[in-house]
Amino acid sequence: MQAYYDQVKAAAAAVRDKAGTVPEVAVVLGSGLGDFAGTLGGPVSMPYQSLPHWPESRVVGHAGRLVIGQMGPRRVAALAGRCHAYEGHDLKTVTFATRVMGMLGVRTLILTNAAGGINTGFGEGALMVIDDHINLTGGNPLVGENDERFGVRFPDMSEVYARRLRAIADETAAAQQLPLRHGVYAALLGPSYETPAEIRYLRAIGADAVGMSTAVEAIVARHMGMDVLGLSCITNMAAGVLPQPLRHDEVMATARRVRGEFIGLLEGIIGRL
Ligand code: HPA
Repeated sequence: MQAYYDQVKAAAAAVRDKAGTVPEVAVVLGSGLGDFAGTLGGPVSMPYQSLPHWPESRVVGHAGRLVIGQMGPRRVAALAGRCHAYEGHDLKTVTFATRVMGMLGVRTLILTNAAGGINTGFGEGALMVIDDHINLTGGNPLVGENDERFGVRFPDMSEVYARRLRAIADETAAAQQLPLRHGVYAALLGPSYETPAEIRYLRAIGADAVGMSTAVEAIVARHMGMDVLGLSCITNMAAGVLPQPLRHDEVMATARRVRGEFIGLLEGIIGRL
């Protein structure tokens, strides 16, 4: 079997061949937020299964394609559908797409997700800039022999989510008169939602939102020196906050309800990069 680095390289070469150009910005679209891919001009759409070594996600609500197109002066890659560790993929597989984006020369990676609101000041449908994360997935995608071609053995994580990009998100939201929250994202393995006791624990350790993605991709992006922006759509209040059970279809319904605002925010941010 080809070494991991060579698989990433082969996938990057295939993307470059199909798209003709390389993106500067990449956006990973969370559950229910895939529509953003349809807003790019002159799009080249690549189903994941058409790209070598590309893992497929089978979560409902994840379409599974890479679209490269134009947004204003920027070449943008939109990743509709991502792999999650809870599907049984190892973390090298989960972060494969992030590696390919880095290898293509993407400098700015925008990671979006659906998340549960732990901070009781948030409401369903709120949008949150991720200021920092707590990786509680039980794994780290950099475990194992370090490939120096990707990055250093012990990468710094003191500013995973670039201050500059968070400020751009704030400016954009202000210009659009869109309320935008800030907070710490706790990443758990899933796929079961949390218990109320787990949510109280997460609140106590400083988390504002909880989800099952993003943190491991952000770690890999920083390993490769990309600048990262994280945006969460608070699709539901976390377990135990409201006296009702959590349901994936409600998560999806909220994401769909706010996708217009979310896409507008993304477009505005990319316009200001
Ligand atoms: N918990 C974990 N992941 C999630 C949630 C949640 O409440 N909502 C959307 N993704």
